[in-house]
Amino acid sequence: MARAALRLGVRALALLVFVSVALLPLVSSDDGYRHCEGVVRGWADASSGRVKDGDKLSLKDLLFFLHIPRTGGRTYFHCFLKKLYTNAQECPRSYDKLRFDPSHPDCKLVVSHDDYSLTSKLPRERTSVVTILRNPVDRVFSTYEFSVEVAARFLVHPNLTSAKLMTTRVLTKSRAVSTLDIWPWKYLVPWMREDLFARRDARGVYKVHSSKKVNAYDVDDMVMPLHRYINDPVAHEIIHNGATFQITGLTNNSYFDGAHEVRHCVRKHPDLGRIVLEVAKNRLDQMLYVGLTEDHEESARLFAHMVGAQVLSQSGTLTLDLKEDLPIETDSHPSMEPEDEETNGHLHTWLAE
Ligand SMILES: *[C@@H]1O[C@H](CO)[C@@H](O)[C@H](O)[C@H]1NC(C)=O
Ligand SMILES: *[C@@H]1O[C@H](CO)[C@@H](O)[C@H](O)[C@H]1NC(C)=O
Repeated sequence: MARAALRLGVRALALLVFVSVALLPLVSSDDGYRHCEGVVRGWADASSGRVKDGDKLSLKDLLFFLHIPRTGGRTYFHCFLKKLYTNAQECPRSYDKLRFDPSHPDCKLVVSHDDYSLTSKLPRERTSVVTILRNPVDRVFSTYEFSVEVAARFLVHPNLTSAKLMTTRVLTKSRAVSTLDIWPWKYLVPWMREDLFARRDARGVYKVHSSKKVNAYDVDDMVMPLHRYINDPVAHEIIHNGATFQITGLTNNSYFDGAHEVRHCVRKHPDLGRIVLEVAKNRLDQMLYVGLTEDHEESARLFAHMVGAQVLSQSGTLTLDLKEDLPIETDSHPSMEPEDEETNGHLHTWLAE
């Protein structure tokens, strides 16, 4: 297990890249560089609190599953965490930033797309963090596909106005958490939805395009092509370095006020990204567990040993037979975050209550 953990660890670090958007000269004739360097270094120094090495491998009172979108985290949530923790132990509304209440007395599990800065709301020294990483290219493809998939559900409506209106009505009535409440989908889905309707309006509802050879990533008259999507400022803001920013608490969903300045400095001066990457690596190093989407089976086994066994032993249920094989899908292309229950056909409900 230790060797397996190490192997996964090394690959996890390799996956964590910082995507430099443009190559700037190392020190441009200032251009705010010095200021930015100070900002980023100052943040990095303040972020490098360390835990004793021996300590990080034992499960603390609270488990924070930092769910990076499109890494298969929902499978872990439903197949493992939901089985290990009772409903009462799950912190209420943990995916839902607006209503999330970590002060709930008995809760032991937080699962969220919120970034690492959420730990500032949690009892840090009593919290263990776990996450899953995925090859960034696959993660970006998957993000595109999921944006299209969820947005396309709204096309049952005659026009954008009616789609928006219906959503608001359903959302206020239902108590379920919708994809539209959750970062990053609350930005990515409406953006894609608007674009889908515009393309449909432009081609006219009755002119159904049916070219013989269709490249799913380039169907201009129906969907924003992949290359447009990934080069858009919105994608730059929340997808490209999304995983790295989530682990460092620097997403535009951060609880840390200074996140925006640090993020903007790093985008303006990409070489400062190295500093962010170091912080991210340290964070990963201090987590109880880091899984890899690509190494599904090994990751799941490791999860059972590192997390599952400890949760059970702490809850006094020492019945897990670790030699028994876990039922694991050996699909070479595991389906990420499978279709969920839907409300009224167009809402993607993440958590039933
Ligand atoms: C959108 O569709 C609804 C329902 O069919 C219709 O009442 C409304 O006039 C439409 N709005 C626009 C701007 O076309
Ligand atoms: C986060 O990024 C999206 C996409 O660029 C943007 O629409 C949104 O306003 C940003 N949110 C914050 C809080 O900055």
